[in-house]
Amino acid sequence: MPVMTTSIMSESEVRAAVARELPGVRADLERLVRIPGIAFEGFDHSHVERSAEAVAELLRGCGLDTKIVRSGGQPAVIGTRPAPPGAPTVLLYAHHDVQPVGDRSLWESDPFEPVERDGRLYGRGAADDKAGIMAHVAALRAFGDRLPVGVVLFVEGEEEYGSDSLERLLATHRDEIACDVIVIADSANWDIGVPALTTSLRGIVNCFVELRTLSQAVHSGMFGGPVPDALTALVRLLSTLHDDAGNVTVEGLVGREEASVDYPEDRFRAEAGLVEGGSLIGTGRITDRLWTKPALAILGVDAPATAEAPNALVPVAKAKLSVRLAPGDDPKRAYDALRAHLERHTPWGAQVTITFEHDGAPCVIDATGPMFDAARSAFRTAWDGTDPVDIGVGGSIPFIATFQELFPEAAILVTGVEDPHAGAHGPNESLHLGEFARVCLAEALLLAKVAEVGRQTG
Ligand code: BES
Repeated sequence: MPVMTTSIMSESEVRAAVARELPGVRADLERLVRIPGIAFEGFDHSHVERSAEAVAELLRGCGLDTKIVRSGGQPAVIGTRPAPPGAPTVLLYAHHDVQPVGDRSLWESDPFEPVERDGRLYGRGAADDKAGIMAHVAALRAFGDRLPVGVVLFVEGEEEYGSDSLERLLATHRDEIACDVIVIADSANWDIGVPALTTSLRGIVNCFVELRTLSQAVHSGMFGGPVPDALTALVRLLSTLHDDAGNVTVEGLVGREEASVDYPEDRFRAEAGLVEGGSLIGTGRITDRLWTKPALAILGVDAPATAEAPNALVPVAKAKLSVRLAPGDDPKRAYDALRAHLERHTPWGAQVTITFEHDGAPCVIDATGPMFDAARSAFRTAWDGTDPVDIGVGGSIPFIATFQELFPEAAILVTGVEDPHAGAHGPNESLHLGEFARVCLAEALLLAKVAEVGRQTG
């Protein structure tokens, strides 16, 4: 354990220290990106183990008392360093698992071999969320033995697969993760050059629906007409999930129009990569549709591939559905509502089987008080005077709601590591390196300010 001194680093010392650490942080980020740790079923989980070990090594290097923990699921890493007398303890959260890469042919370079192009570092997890891990490490390295707060690093290993064992894990390690403030480095900034503080996230329910109309495939000429194929039945069912305007029709889902920021439509279309002439769906402001209303998407379909499809009626077809839940909704209630809708709208007497995959609760954060002001001030400094925007996000981090239940008093600072061009979950995910330098500086400044607020209020 390094010797703690209480001498507070000045802003310019923090800046210089972060700048000094950045090359090493970048090299370690690249090392992490080379490990394809995917927690999804069917993937080789030995890589998730390796990735947990690599993270543990980084935390040990920062002088943290570190261990790898699990509760039936994938390994998480916990690292702790006690607070100097009178200083607050801050929990720093990130996750080390990544999403699958999808169609490799759409990647311009190997997803697990990081490369820099035009100021961005490309690779799966370069942004979501290995950049989050490294922002924490950057801040710890910058302070060295002059860290002004106590820290608990919690780096999860199955966030991208629904955090199924998280509740048990947090309950088991409740005492070790107790803290006054938490920094979740797994969200997005508002734009390149504009920081953000995330104040709400949507929840999620994923499930599969399978329809069967026949015991086996039969000749489409001999039987087509009177006999329904399962794929047509599935398409009809899926088409009942939205109205003509594109609003979700599942009864009982929560949704409100209360977002406080405008997302200019042209900018949004360009960032999404919407095709020329393509319509946006749903009604209300774009930010309402993204942040405070539900969304429903079909993520995949199992049916014969077109290249191999014979002239035969498809007996069985399956879709994977994902519902994003507005803040205030409840995943269990939402799943019941979705199941009831699917059963009620299944056409033509097809046999329907609905299987739950995973869920995560939405959350709202009351971003008022001295810790949030400290975060805003740190962001403003790191972005050379640009005020941060309070945003909601449409994505989900199940950890937050679980954590809120355990520690209702802790201030939860959800910070951005991604930018709107990061391409998280898609091909060619990347991290803007210039913004990443600001993210690292912001985190170090934030810890210094949290220490200051802690001393004043504690
Ligand atoms: N970093 C994202 C959450 C996020 C998404 C923040 C968009 C800001 C904008 C996180 O790692 C993530 O992708 N979470 C999953 C959770 C799910 C599998 C339960 C998601 O949202 O799909």
